[in-house]
Amino acid sequence: MNTASSQPSNRILIFDTTLRDGEQSPGCSMSPQQKVVMARALAELGVDILETGFPASSQSDREATAMIAAELRKTTLCVLSRCLPADIEASARSLENAARPRIHLFLSTSPLHREHKLRISKDEVLESIHKHVSMARGYIDDIEFSPEDATRTEPEFLAEAVTVAIAAGATTINMPDTLGYTTPGEIRELFERLIGTVPGAREVVFSTHCHNDLGMAVANSLAAIEGGARQVECTINGIGERAGNCALEELTMALKVRNSYYNADTGIDTRHLVPTSQLLTRLTGMQVQRNKAIVGANAFAHESGIHQHGMLRHRCTYEIMNPEDVGCIESQMVLGRHSGRAAVEHRLRALGYFLGEEELNLVFAQFKDLCESQRVVNDADLQALMQDAVESDGYRLAAMTISDHGQDAQAQVELSDPNGDRVIETAQGEGPVAALFAALAAATGVQLILDSYQVHSVGIGADARGEATLSVRYQDIEYEGSGVSEDIIEASALAWLDVANRLLRQRNDAGTAALTA
Ligand code: KIV
Ligand code: ZN
Repeated sequence: MNTASSQPSNRILIFDTTLRDGEQSPGCSMSPQQKVVMARALAELGVDILETGFPASSQSDREATAMIAAELRKTTLCVLSRCLPADIEASARSLENAARPRIHLFLSTSPLHREHKLRISKDEVLESIHKHVSMARGYIDDIEFSPEDATRTEPEFLAEAVTVAIAAGATTINMPDTLGYTTPGEIRELFERLIGTVPGAREVVFSTHCHNDLGMAVANSLAAIEGGARQVECTINGIGERAGNCALEELTMALKVRNSYYNADTGIDTRHLVPTSQLLTRLTGMQVQRNKAIVGANAFAHESGIHQHGMLRHRCTYEIMNPEDVGCIESQMVLGRHSGRAAVEHRLRALGYFLGEEELNLVFAQFKDLCESQRVVNDADLQALMQDAVESDGYRLAAMTISDHGQDAQAQVELSDPNGDRVIETAQGEGPVAALFAALAAATGVQLILDSYQVHSVGIGADARGEATLSVRYQDIEYEGSGVSEDIIEASALAWLDVANRLLRQRNDAGTAALTA
């Protein structure tokens, strides 16, 4: 258990909620298999606590939690639970095989939430906290409690709620800034006050959980640390509800680069930051803005002449961290017919995939097959192999032919459907891409109305590939997908299927019927 006394006072625990708060944000949903792949990468990254989902809310979260629990034995695995007996039971069941389980209970404490959401009094809130934290302690020793919307709660009542939670057995007290409303000065003072005045506060870990509505999630989390927080809740790429959560990569690099200022360390191996970020992008389709700190494509690019000149003289003139320290390394490795298992495994790990023995055997066999048809196998090819391995539940492109007579084009696609059966469909359209998308729609039964469709080249020379990215809007949520191939039309088909499979997965989870984006 990660308790206040088991960690040196300047060691910050990283609580990753990419798979829960991040995943519950629009367009970011992941299947249980995808969550396992992501969880392995997060464990390698060195997160201390991994929130895997909200078991009472979906079968998919229960499955994902159980699958991750069977594999990850060193990381604390946490699940979210409302203050309801049925939620606590579902949480305890899904963590049955976890080596280090934690239940994270939450209940709103702010006047707005009490009056308009829960319609309960202050006394009822306190009773519920006491009853449900005690109940959860009956199953598991490691219990976190969050007063939801803490930063808009009356200070005296918040202190009362925290006092009750600690007395009932909570071992971590988290302060969610649920609406991203607080400021650095305010949150620092909040932590100082609570830790300084609440009975038992020094025996538990205080945690911060900041949303980014005003763009201050990272700044607020750092201020919370200054106020005494020793756990930070964050997500890769800052994904999460609305404007997202505190970005793990920004927070951890701020602590590392400005270590002499914060005097606080994490257990994060920062060399995994970029690969983990890119893995999440591939799994969710959610792109990162180019100028995003730490992991954006431009984070280490120097365009202006003055900067380039300075960089050539001395790197530190315009760089405060080494790209290598965050895992931003161009691959020099070329894989091909003569590459062995170890080389393939090494490259997969650099891409964020950590495979077991059997999985590696399978992917290596597919790699060897691929080498029969192409001279070199690059990162995009390995990612495509992994995508097939991780997302075996969707439509796959088996073959396609396009006949293009100017405006009138015809496309035929052959797909394998989620049951492994073949589906062949033909359609016409104004141009090859329109015909292709019409044939894919006919074969899958999914009508996608595109918001944007872009193609561009990745790599240079003989090994250059085309990458297609597209986004669609479905029930007010934007979904993105991408595909890479030597042939740009095929890349477009892969991108289209990437989005369609995401939508179908989402529909299966939500149990909805009609599907027209
Ligand atoms: O933002 C929030 O309030 C949360 C809680 C459930 C911890 O995510
Ligand atoms: Zn949250």
